[in-house]
Amino acid sequence: MEPTRSNSLVESLARLTHSAGIVGTAPSSCDIHGGFIASRLRDGQLTGCPECSRARQAVQEAEERAELQRQAVAARLERLLGQALIPQRFKTKTFDNYRAESDKQLIALAACRGYADRFAENLEAGRCLMLLGKVGNGKTHLAAAVAAVVIEQHRCNAMYTTVSRVCQQVKASYSKESTQSEREALDIFRTPDLLILDEVGASYGTEFERMVMFEVINARYEDVKPTIVISNLAPGPLVAALGDRTVDRLREGGGVVVVFDWESARREASNG
Ligand SMILES: Nc1ncnc2c1ncn2[C@@H]1O[C@H](COP(=O)(O)OP(=O)(O)OP(=O)(O)O)[C@@H](O)[C@H]1O
Ligand SMILES: [Mg+2]
Ligand SMILES: [Zn+2]
Repeated sequence: MEPTRSNSLVESLARLTHSAGIVGTAPSSCDIHGGFIASRLRDGQLTGCPECSRARQAVQEAEERAELQRQAVAARLERLLGQALIPQRFKTKTFDNYRAESDKQLIALAACRGYADRFAENLEAGRCLMLLGKVGNGKTHLAAAVAAVVIEQHRCNAMYTTVSRVCQQVKASYSKESTQSEREALDIFRTPDLLILDEVGASYGTEFERMVMFEVINARYEDVKPTIVISNLAPGPLVAALGDRTVDRLREGGGVVVVFDWESARREASNG
């Protein structure tokens, strides 16, 4: 007799279940989901509740998704920290390991911590921060601490650089071999949400340096992006070194100025 269509279907289903190790079925029950038909395996074992199995799988898939998400967040953080180019010495500097004993140190710490905590608002307003004063007072330390908070808590990108590095980058773009235009060289410093410009006015500002500083600070001013300027110069000489127009842009929108004028921590360390 010719096998009917449904007969052949039943047979192939039987072959399939047999190859999967299923030799029969038996009524079974789950405390949560009630009755179900369990499959009996070759070794006599009965399969468990399919609803429970689906639920377990859903939990596992959610955990896998959460883990991938965690890895993506960690990778982004790692990337942001790498792109920030914080010098090795300052990577471990935080607000918590800044010793503030005098009133002036407490004010400097509070100003920098406040600037970092309110970074979302400062980013919106393009508000700048100027850390001005004596050597070894922890200006670069506190700027690195701001960058860490900006990256880790606000998930924004920050970049540390020095004036001489910016000038070198721009000068290199003039070379015949350079693949970068002057504009592209300057744009490196225009893109980050926060730019930290260290050692401003350290080399008694050549005309070229003044021009480059204006280009960088003005570009960020046009984009309403905050910049931290660090200098050994007091406010007056800083205006002389950078020029009125540049300092005016740094001050606009309530730019914060913090003056550092106490004994160097480097000297304290060497005194024991
Ligand atoms: N109050 C402080 N508490 C803890 N460490 C400090 C403090 N002040 C400075 N330091 C440490 O002393 C060293 C010098 O500080 P830093 O380089 O930040 O000074 P600076 O003001 O940037 O100096 P310069 O103008 O010469 O660049 C760093 O290792 C810094 O971590
Ligand atoms: Mg410094
Ligand atoms: Zn169940």
